[in-house]
Amino acid sequence: MPDARVKETERSPGVSAQQEECDAESLATLPLEQERGFAAWQRDIPQAYLGLGPTELDERIAAAKAKLGSRLVILGHHYQRDEIIKFADYRGDSLKLAQLAASRTEAQFIVFCGVHFMAESADILTSPEQVVILPNMAAGCSMADMANIDDVTDCWEQLLDVCGEAPVPVTYINSTADLKAFCGRNGGIVCTSSNASGVLDWAFGQGRQALFFPDQHLGRNTGLKKGIPLEQMPVWRRSMPLGGNEALRLAGARIVLWDGYCSVHQRFTVQQIEQARRRYSGIKVIVHPECRMEVVQAADLDGSTEFIARTITGSPAGSQWAVGTEVNLVHRLATENPDKLVFCLDPVVCPCSTMYRIHPAYLLWVLDGLLEGKVINRVQVDRETAVWAKVALDRMLSITK
Ligand code: 13P
Ligand code: SF4
Repeated sequence: MPDARVKETERSPGVSAQQEECDAESLATLPLEQERGFAAWQRDIPQAYLGLGPTELDERIAAAKAKLGSRLVILGHHYQRDEIIKFADYRGDSLKLAQLAASRTEAQFIVFCGVHFMAESADILTSPEQVVILPNMAAGCSMADMANIDDVTDCWEQLLDVCGEAPVPVTYINSTADLKAFCGRNGGIVCTSSNASGVLDWAFGQGRQALFFPDQHLGRNTGLKKGIPLEQMPVWRRSMPLGGNEALRLAGARIVLWDGYCSVHQRFTVQQIEQARRRYSGIKVIVHPECRMEVVQAADLDGSTEFIARTITGSPAGSQWAVGTEVNLVHRLATENPDKLVFCLDPVVCPCSTMYRIHPAYLLWVLDGLLEGKVINRVQVDRETAVWAKVALDRMLSITK
């Protein structure tokens, strides 16, 4: 069985850091075979699947899904393309999909249309008999790649030395299973963009200081809302002694922020918000908390993908929304809310290139495999890691409504 803890980037050697950056309009329109780096990192899917047109893919996926019936559940993250979302039994943000996996599905096969860390969490939270499948194993998360177990352990130990007390480790769910296990073992917890505030309250009930990784923006935005000043939220820069900080500053910190970020959400700017407000009077701006502090502060609202979808869907006809999150979700919200104006803050179309790797050809491939009695692309976390990661995930689920 492949090691589920392999780094996201090791699964996609043809994809450079720049490719994780916005790929502009091209990725949204190119046929599958022409995606950059395709030949280098997609060796396993049989060629026959790559030549199938959209109609045949649709028909065959629908037929395979019908044949598998209640043995199969398809989970779809909000950032998935429409051609995938239409086959999802459930769609949601990371928290909702983790909750579904934890308690609300008895299906034998869970095909997770999202990215690797989400499928890992589903595997950890489901029973050992249930099988979690990620249609394309190259669907990683560049932010999750920004923290690894050695660097985080080193940071945590240095903080223990400098502060005389171990910080409470808090990992964003966008992280590998071994980091969740690290939190489980060391009195820490997992959070998502839906519950980071409550999770930090829990962490402060356990100790004076939290070490928050890998997303500095979610940590900072959440800390600021709690009234924690920036001076008490230093950034830990990997590969620098003491993370590039004075020992005294670290000793006085409430939240030590890892220096990770999401390349998709980094693209949103205050200028884009100002432009939208100039152009449409009365417009509301809603962004994901992975955006920079200035952007979140200039917006009217911020929250998880589920919060964004719920808020826009529930708003009155005629409402206008400029949205700072991944474009597949924004376009879908625009289509599903024709009585409202909904557009992406960033005028350059910017999909999450790794979410985008779940193409219908991959979905069909893994479903056909199941029909033939073969499990393709199973995500399975080793037992020791899974046990401790579950401790941290269960802590989160138990304090989340
Ligand atoms: P949500 O949990 O809000 O869906 O966020 C996941 C994610 O990866 C956002 O970039
Ligand atoms: Fe990761 Fe950013 Fe894509 Fe979310 S949008 S899965 S954080 S790369």
